Amino acid sequence: MKKEFTIRDVKLEDGPQIIQNYYGYFEELKRDPGFGLLLPEKKPSMAGEVRWFADAYARFLEGKSVFLVAESDGKAVGVCDVIRKTSGRYQNHVGVVGLAVAKEYRGFGIGEALMREMIKKSRKKFDILTLGVLINNKGAFALYKKLGFELYGTLPDCIKRKGKYFGEHEMYMHLKRRR
Ligand SMILES: CC(C)(COP(=O)(O)OP(=O)(O)OC[C@H]1O[C@@H](n2cnc3c(N)ncnc32)[C@H](O)[C@@H]1OP(=O)(O)O)[C@@H](O)C(=O)NCCC(=O)NCCS
Repeated sequence: MKKEFTIRDVKLEDGPQIIQNYYGYFEELKRDPGFGLLLPEKKPSMAGEVRWFADAYARFLEGKSVFLVAESDGKAVGVCDVIRKTSGRYQNHVGVVGLAVAKEYRGFGIGEALMREMIKKSRKKFDILTLGVLINNKGAFALYKKLGFELYGTLPDCIKRKGKYFGEHEMYMHLKRRR
């Protein structure tokens, strides 16, 4: 079965659904310590989430980030964002990518469509994209490889969940050296 969806910029009214999706990922992590998303140990409060979304949306409105939503069945079912690396160490040209699609909407091409649009939009804002992916997150790793991200390192066992270790691959795409 196919799912109809569109990829578009985030809107203010997406906030509650994006937060609800995010909370859903904590439930997935509870069931599966190998779940692919890097989440904080403590589920953030609703107040914290609202603050996060307000800041993220403001950054987007100011043109400082890329913040895309996949809409399906009239709601936000996936997000892809790129935020500037804020090290204050001459790394303003580096964008850090985040990607997540709600469970029931995976496997329909939504993640790939979000990433492709994100790369297009990022060309105007960043020179290099970077992201981290858990070694066991084979689906996400395959997607990033397919799109041309390159592996530049692996930190074994850097995440420990419920006593189990998970390593992380670091990947990048150089937007100035790749058309
Ligand atoms: C990773 C994720 C965003 C992929 O989104 P998706 O909409 O399910 O992926 P798509 O349907 O667009 O798949 C695109 C490509 O990704 C790869 N892929 C996706 N899921 C896969 C899986 N389960 N196994 C193998 N490859 C997979 C394939 O290369 C696929 O291309 P193909 O269909 O031509 O083989 C989604 O699974 C997700 O949100 N997972 C939980 C959160 C997460 O892990 N985020 C990434 C953190 S780094």
